[in-house]
Parts: sequence; structure tokens; C-alpha cells
Amino acid sequence: MSRNKKLARFAEFSQFSNTHETKEGLKGNWKTKIFKNNNPVVLELAAGKAEYTVGMARLFPDKNFVAIDKKGNRMWVGAKKTQEENLINTAFIRTQIDFLTDWFGHNEVDEIWIIHPDPQIDKARKRLTGPMFIPRYREILRPGGIIHLKTDSTLLYEYTLEIIEQENLKLINHHPDIYHSELYNEVLAIKTYYEQMFTAKGETIKYISFTLD
Ligand SMILES: C[S@@+](CC[C@H](N)C(=O)[O-])C[C@H]1O[C@@H](n2cnc3c(N)ncnc32)[C@H](O)[C@@H]1O
Repeated sequence: MSRNKKLARFAEFSQFSNTHETKEGLKGNWKTKIFKNNNPVVLELAAGKAEYTVGMARLFPDKNFVAIDKKGNRMWVGAKKTQEENLINTAFIRTQIDFLTDWFGHNEVDEIWIIHPDPQIDKARKRLTGPMFIPRYREILRPGGIIHLKTDSTLLYEYTLEIIEQENLKLINHHPDIYHSELYNEVLAIKTYYEQMFTAKGETIKYISFTLD
């Protein structure tokens, strides 16, 4: 993408009514002040073009969806769709996921989707399902709140299952090939940009759901 197109997307992303690049006034206020309802708040981490936020917002108008990624030009794609379709149950945050607890209060989040994050082959400590991130999720996720991981990476899939065991978390479901599983449903059928690339290369898509209880 040309530099000018990227800059234009950055500028438009900042102007959308449902995008946030500064955290002031948000923590603890998502239901009351941002969405102005008492519906569950669902996060999509490593959102990229935010296909999950857009797809789930269409399917579940009675839930609020927040996409989070550090790249505004990627999230512009999803944010633009929510403007065109008037999906008022969506928000977009451009930030490092590392700072999640600056943006959400204790128990403020009901569910987390982590969609094809970088497996961080050489930097295990940076993995979004690793011990550096679990305490952050614990701080913002309500008790019993489900974390979902979708990945093409066998390494990240096996690593996450190990972490769940090591940290004594509660495994709900997992499958190494979600398209050929009884778990497959309309949400897991949402295909992101990266998922389309992975499946075109013949990769199988893996899925895990767990809670921090
Ligand atoms: C492989 S892409 C997947 C994007 C999208 N979920 C998909 O499936 O098409 C990983 C995304 O994670 C984002 N990302 C990686 N580390 C991050 C971090 N620490 N904070 C915020 N975003 C991050 C990148 O900007 C990128 O958009």
C-alpha cells in the first residue's frame, strides 16, 4: 500500500465516531458511557482488519464488540464497514495489547477472541496466550469469561494447551482442525484475511477455548 493511502486511512480512522487512540475516560465506562447499554463487552485482540468484530456485531446486536490492534490502517477496513453498516455495537482501539489494563477496568470484559496472533516463534514471552498476558486478561475479564484462540500455528496451539495445564486454567474445547469438527459454527466460520491466506496454503485452522477459573 502506498504511503499516501496509508496516511489517508490513518486520518480517516481517527475521524470515525467509534475509534479510540487515547485512553482517557474509557476505563470502567465502556457500558455506561461508550455503548450506553448493559450488554456484554467482547474483545477481538490482534484484530487486523477486524473481521471478527464486524462479523459478530452483525450476528449479535445485543453484544458490544471492541477490536484492538496497533495498526490503524488495518483496522480502518473493519471500522469503515461498521460506519457503512451503522453497526453501533462496535468500537476500535489502536494500541499495544500490552496496555489492555489501561483501557478496561476490573471484570469489565465478558469474552476475549484472539484471532491468528503472531506465534512469536523465537520470543515465547511475547505470545498473547503466554504468562505475560494471562494476568492482564485476569484483571479485566469477568469470572467465567471465555477466551478463544484461533491459529494456524501448531506451535502456538500446543503451547497454549501447555499453558492452560501449567497455570491450572479450565480448558473448555479444543480442536486441531476446526473446519472438520463438531464445534464448527457460524462464528468459527468467519474467515479473516490471514486465515484465508493460511487455508490457501493448505494449513489447518486450530481452535481453543478456555477460562481463567
Ligand atoms: C497475523 S496478524 C492477524 C490479523 C487478523 N486477526 C487476521 O486474522 O487477519 C497479527 C496482528 O496482530 C497485531 N499485533 C501484534 N502484536 C500486537 C500487540 N502487541 N499489540 C497490538 N497489536 C498487535 C498486528 O498488528 C497484526 O495486525
